[in-house]
Amino acid sequence: MEQTYVMVKPDGVQRGLVGEIISRIERRGLKIIALRINVIKEATAKEHYIEHETKSFFTSLVKFIVSSPSISMVVTGKDAIRVMRTIAGATNPVDATPGTIRGDFALDIGRNVVHASDSTDAAAREIAIHFKDSEIWKYSKIDEVCIYE
Ligand code: RTP
Ligand code: MG
Repeated sequence: MEQTYVMVKPDGVQRGLVGEIISRIERRGLKIIALRINVIKEATAKEHYIEHETKSFFTSLVKFIVSSPSISMVVTGKDAIRVMRTIAGATNPVDATPGTIRGDFALDIGRNVVHASDSTDAAAREIAIHFKDSEIWKYSKIDEVCIYE
């Protein structure tokens, strides 16, 4: 089972999409094992998006991420990283397929509602940035016998 880091960005929280997004994650069969709402510190946001440090959009991206509360989650399940990226949809919502979060709820690349880790290395790095081990809950769910063969 993989673990991935998922964020409902400030636009998703402001627009009341938290329940909708969590529903999609749960209905797919993925399991939430950590969750919080907070305003991410600027240093944490910069570390999170370090790969984009030299890009023109870095400053505005960090400013937006710390502008109001976001939801941080650790989500686990079979191929959770790839499955969450598919649920999120293409980075630019204009290219995102209907049925994805970005394809259903967004129009602007700078307001694309969710973040999901894009690789196993990124997932491990991002989970460690946002959560302590003691905040991640390992538990069984009774529906797992129906979700997994
Ligand atoms: P994320 O990291 O937020 O899940 O998004 P992603 O992997 O789909 O896309 P990534 O390339 O990592 O970009 C991170 C976020 O930066 C903003 N962005 N703006 N103006 C631009 O050209 C531009 N490119 C990227 C987006 O909000 C994107 O989600
Ligand atoms: Mg990314």
